[in-house]
Amino acid sequence: MGTENRKQTRVWCDGCYDMVHFGHANSLRQAKALGDYLIVGVHTDEEITKHKGPPVFNEQERYEMTRAIKWVDEVVEGAPYVTTLETLDEYDCDFCAHGNDITTTADGKDTYQEVKDAGRYKEVERTQGVSTTDLVGRMLLLTREHFRRGASEYTLEKGDAPSNLATDAKARSPYTGMSQFLPTTRKIQQFSEGKEPPPNAKIVYVAGAFDVLHPGHLAFLKAACALGDFLIVGLHTDPIVNTYKGSNYPIMNLHERTLSVLACKYVSEVVIGAPYIVTADLLDHFSVAVVVHGKTKISGDPISQEDPYAEPKRRGIFQEVESGSTLTTDMIVHRIIARRMDYEKRNEAKEKKELAILEAIQNK
Ligand code: CTP
Ligand code: C5P
Repeated sequence: MGTENRKQTRVWCDGCYDMVHFGHANSLRQAKALGDYLIVGVHTDEEITKHKGPPVFNEQERYEMTRAIKWVDEVVEGAPYVTTLETLDEYDCDFCAHGNDITTTADGKDTYQEVKDAGRYKEVERTQGVSTTDLVGRMLLLTREHFRRGASEYTLEKGDAPSNLATDAKARSPYTGMSQFLPTTRKIQQFSEGKEPPPNAKIVYVAGAFDVLHPGHLAFLKAACALGDFLIVGLHTDPIVNTYKGSNYPIMNLHERTLSVLACKYVSEVVIGAPYIVTADLLDHFSVAVVVHGKTKISGDPISQEDPYAEPKRRGIFQEVESGSTLTTDMIVHRIIARRMDYEKRNEAKEKKELAILEAIQNK
């Protein structure tokens, strides 16, 4: 039978996709590889609050962020928290795919029991070392010098990036507890398009921190992408970001930011550790036709105070775009700090639930 006559395999995934990160993207990448067409159901704020605690990004933001992941073909807004056969059938999906962690309702029931029992459930490998819960934890760390993790106490040294902190993985749930993400070249290869720009392509270059990718970044990347055929994102190194953002920024380290940006459908290529000054060498090397920045403030070089876009401006290829969003990574951190108690409770409850389930499995 020719492939043109074969029924498409339609895969269903669902989740909160809150502060969508490369762990979510990696699960969707694997899910897409199990079939031909990937549909992702995203839960409402109300459902998430009921079962897990308040999300950081609201539902409109989460729908938008999920839709921008390059392996996603379709997003179903307001998908039910518990996955049923009825939902799979409604969207003509063959099966549901989920990471190999445990997802439960508020009263501790496996949200995938029905589809598991019907043999319409496949597992993908959860990405170790990143979770929304962990990111929320990193942001909460920004405001205090001492913090507690399980039985251990760590001291946050001035200038210590959160991602460098020692962790006590043993005392924590293996799913959402903080553990270290180990970036590999294979993961980067899996996320990247690996495509050369087409001949005569108009190359667009943007640079920045892109820390904790948010809808403001997304709107900006979409607008930048529309100005050409091939969008290259230059990511500043962690020490550079730290010099202009201060405190303990960036929240996500360079490798994590690389994967998050690579997962975005508007991005063709990433420069991992781009120079702060957009030099003539860089522009010539990539044959850049246009350099784009949003309406946010442009800081001078941390040492020389030089305008990083002086060269593209001299060439007449610098352009500012309006993302239409005023959101910043700082504002996300402030959302979390403003509701610190809620999020701390949510993190604790989630881990406690996971540890209890694991203990029950071990004692079986
Ligand atoms: N996922 C993953 N790797 C991660 C985090 C999430 O593979 N590091 C997967 C989950 O297994 C699930 C999907 O992403 O299949 C959506 O998960 P979601 O409900 O949004 O995330 P949680 O895992 O519940 O939340 P958290 O990130 O706080 O752990
Ligand atoms: O702040 P950061 O370096 O992550 O920003 C990367 C790019 O995204 C910059 O060009 C910035 O102006 C743009 N941006 C935007 N709208 C936002 C946030 C960022 O255009 N709300």
